[in-house]
Amino acid sequence: MSGRDLHWQDSAISAEERRAAISQRGCAIWLTGLSGAGKSSIARELERRLIGRSLVAYTLDGDNIRHGLCGDLGFSPADRRENIRRVGEVVRLMVDAGVITIIALISPYRADRDAVRARLPEGAFLEVFVDAPLAVCEGRDPKGLYARARAGLIPDFTGISAPYEPPSAPELILPTAEETTERCVQRLLDRLLPLVALERRGEGPEG
Ligand code: ADX
Repeated sequence: MSGRDLHWQDSAISAEERRAAISQRGCAIWLTGLSGAGKSSIARELERRLIGRSLVAYTLDGDNIRHGLCGDLGFSPADRRENIRRVGEVVRLMVDAGVITIIALISPYRADRDAVRARLPEGAFLEVFVDAPLAVCEGRDPKGLYARARAGLIPDFTGISAPYEPPSAPELILPTAEETTERCVQRLLDRLLPLVALERRGEGPEG
């Protein structure tokens, strides 16, 4: 679509005013890894811990997103790219709104993840490699998908018949075969809180 007839509307609120109002800075925590690596478990626990600190956090999980926003997409490289692009644009808006946005997507292609990073403000994209060996993920097989993929019932299955490209320079690596979910989430929080949690301003009457 041509941009000629479209005009960007600037917000009346500056990023700084927004941050001050909600005492937090938006950012994206992008969890990438194989199916069964533990992305959703980490996302759930991280969101719970952040909300517990009265921070506004929200998880975008691939399996859920594919029921709605990306319900028309499959698992070809082009469809995965479009999946990641759409989620990336939603993330951009949520981060702009100041939300700590947790994303749990396999997102197997480095170029697709890098494209999302490039659309976000410097420092607002934390790429987290949820790193478990294929054999471990396959052993867990929580949804029975690896067994079905091995039986030839799911084409283009990541790790079996489709590639996974690990991040080359992730902000964090969480080895879920060696560390508990709690430990992984704690490491994430240690990294995250200094970036996102701002001092709360006074609660006095302001009319
Ligand atoms: S991504 O590659 O486009 O990032 P996404 O995270 O949205 O994938 O969706 C992955 C989920 O879809 C998996 O957790 C699994 O439950 C399901 N799935 C169904 N088919 C496939 C497939 N061919 N490859 C990987 N995951 C699949």
